[in-house]
Amino acid sequence: MTVITCIEDLKRLHARRVPRMFYDYAESGSYTEQTFRENVSDFSKIRLRQKVAVDMSDRRVTGRMLGRAVTMPVALAPVGLTGMQSADGEIKAARAAEKFGVPFTLSTMSICSIEDVAAQTSSPFWFQLYVMRDEAFVDNIIERARKAGCSALVLTLDLQILGQRHKDLKNGLSAPPRLTIPNILNMATKPRWCLGMLGTKRHTFGNIVGHAKGVGNLASLSSWTNEQFDPKLDWDKIARIRDRWGGKLILKGVLDAEDATRAAEFGADAIVVSNHGGRQLDGALSSIRILPSIVRAVKGKTEIWIDSGIRSGQDILKALALGADAAMIGRSYIYGLGAMGEAGVTKALEVLHKELDVTMALCGERDIAALGAHNLLVPQDFE
Ligand code: FNR
Repeated sequence: MTVITCIEDLKRLHARRVPRMFYDYAESGSYTEQTFRENVSDFSKIRLRQKVAVDMSDRRVTGRMLGRAVTMPVALAPVGLTGMQSADGEIKAARAAEKFGVPFTLSTMSICSIEDVAAQTSSPFWFQLYVMRDEAFVDNIIERARKAGCSALVLTLDLQILGQRHKDLKNGLSAPPRLTIPNILNMATKPRWCLGMLGTKRHTFGNIVGHAKGVGNLASLSSWTNEQFDPKLDWDKIARIRDRWGGKLILKGVLDAEDATRAAEFGADAIVVSNHGGRQLDGALSSIRILPSIVRAVKGKTEIWIDSGIRSGQDILKALALGADAAMIGRSYIYGLGAMGEAGVTKALEVLHKELDVTMALCGERDIAALGAHNLLVPQDFE
């Protein structure tokens, strides 16, 4: 039995247990993957300042996100096809988040539907919306999210057009997987995954089934996405969605101080500084490098959250010390889910929580609210 001590362990187990097509889907970035790689490597360029001889007996890593108390200021980011990493994966991730005391975000492109997740959880989750060309579909899904009790809408702005991921095209990514000989052979080596999938009827996109002819068995995810997603998404359309929804609104995929200023003026309750985990604009700067300029532009005007590249509690601490109010994690919990189902998501959260607490203590801080630039050594050329 493997002893899991860090997110990297969960990633290795995920690779062993889940069919190649779905592991690759999670683990790749667009084009040359430069941004995907730098999201992670840029965190290691920031160093921490150790402080000693401080009473560390009473520490606090709890916080608030949109006014809601959280065990640590971390939320699960929306991830498409989560239910193909593990059967009923969205339900498992949502339950793990609920028990741990952090928010869960359900993707538009999930396997379990909004209603499936609502039926299996008791605290409100957030719904992430991709804006489609068909306004009736958008209005309908907003209504479904409201009826299911979702407490915030996460509007993703950085995927009007899909960045290409070479591996997905080469693997012929689809949900459910097409039964080609290589796929069957690969799945046969993942008995745990196959058994799980046999036990559920949910093998295709629960939120968008029936939206367009042929959906429900998407042969080619990327070409379908490019046909359905609205390339005309602009601030007027965002305003239409804000008015339609009427509740808390999070704008995700902001990577520029001017856009952040616009989002804050627009009244976003939070923005997520994000490059979609390096899956969209290859060549964009990592989120952590962009963060300081966005903090200077909008700190205090809207909540500033960050994702892309967070793999440890040390990373979370660095982001908070640079001025983020909270973080979102994508792959860190997906590795856990693929490795061990719900227990793996819980494990990922435990690992991050413990690392955050210990790192904070070794930096001489007792409360994450007190973290700041004084805890960091940032290279001059970082920005
Ligand atoms: C994503 N992301 C994403 N974002 C979103 O708004 N809707 C979605 O459906 C998806 N789908 C998706 C699938 C996979 C496999 C990944 C890895 C990511 C982006 C996600 O919300 C988040 O921005 C990134 O995952 C953050 O980067 P890290 O933590 O994975 O490095």
